[in-house]
Amino acid sequence: MTIKQIAELANVSSATVSKVMNGKDKNISEATRQRVLKIIEEEGYIPNGIAKSLKVKSTKTIGIILPDVMNLFFSELARGVEDMAEAKGYSIIICNTDNNEKKEQKYLQILQEKMVDGIIMTATESSANNIFCKFKTPMVLVDRDIDFGNKLGLIEVDNVEPAYEATKHLIDKGCKRIAFISSVKVNKTSVNRYIGYEKALLEAGQTIDENLVFLDSFSIESGCLGAQKILKDHKVDGIFCGNDLIAIGALKEIKERGLRVPEDIKIVGFDDISISRYVDPPLTTIKQPIYEMGNEAVNMLVDIIEAREVDMKRTLKACLVERQST
Ligand code: RIB
Repeated sequence: MTIKQIAELANVSSATVSKVMNGKDKNISEATRQRVLKIIEEEGYIPNGIAKSLKVKSTKTIGIILPDVMNLFFSELARGVEDMAEAKGYSIIICNTDNNEKKEQKYLQILQEKMVDGIIMTATESSANNIFCKFKTPMVLVDRDIDFGNKLGLIEVDNVEPAYEATKHLIDKGCKRIAFISSVKVNKTSVNRYIGYEKALLEAGQTIDENLVFLDSFSIESGCLGAQKILKDHKVDGIFCGNDLIAIGALKEIKERGLRVPEDIKIVGFDDISISRYVDPPLTTIKQPIYEMGNEAVNMLVDIIEAREVDMKRTLKACLVERQST
């Protein structure tokens, strides 16, 4: 069924059918509008989106590429993207790379083939300064700044300052042997959190003991593994975790060793994902403006797509949320 056939059945022009479907029907009589809508419903007509996209050279679709949709950080980020995209008349396609660079490149290719109008991406933990194939699709990176060799938008959080604040909070609580468990130093996010940790320790006259640093991935398993490895041979009284999943893993390991939080070991996370206030004890963490990051990524991307003047970098603020794990 085509627009032309609907028009013939309704005895109107194809342009009239388009206007009724696109809500641009203020100059069309109510009787005609109702007749067209009735025939569309009876015939079960669904507009051909691809044909329309080719005609207007826009799919009104945004692709979002995320490294781990099981991590509530990215679920909340996707929510912020979806709500703002919908408010601006765009639909979204969500791609999960499982932190795998090959999948990341595959999805970049697929989204371009599907002619999305723009892409929002948080890179995998190991993607760093990859010069991907040159492509023209407008793109905004969220959170993990990497050099794609193109002029890309960036929505980020200052990571050094909150990491410094998290570590200083542990020092102020009396911790003298503070460990750091985080993702590998390949991505700037993790590098900057390490810098904040190091800055607070050195400022307090504490040395950096590399035996108390475990860098793997932003996952619960890494939190368990890191705590296991560090606590096997070393005594610590505080752990700064690169994200809340790591903190949850470390919490589990600490308890399995018969140690108490915060009495024996104090813990600080990073993100403040929705579950962090419900773990036992509720997690002291750094609250990232996750939902706002998603909103702002869409605002920036749509400005780029629709060729408006836009600052290509926006840095948002994160802050310490104190709970019972310290
Ligand atoms: O929890 C996932 C982590 O990856 C977050 O801290 C976020 O900043 C991203 O880098």
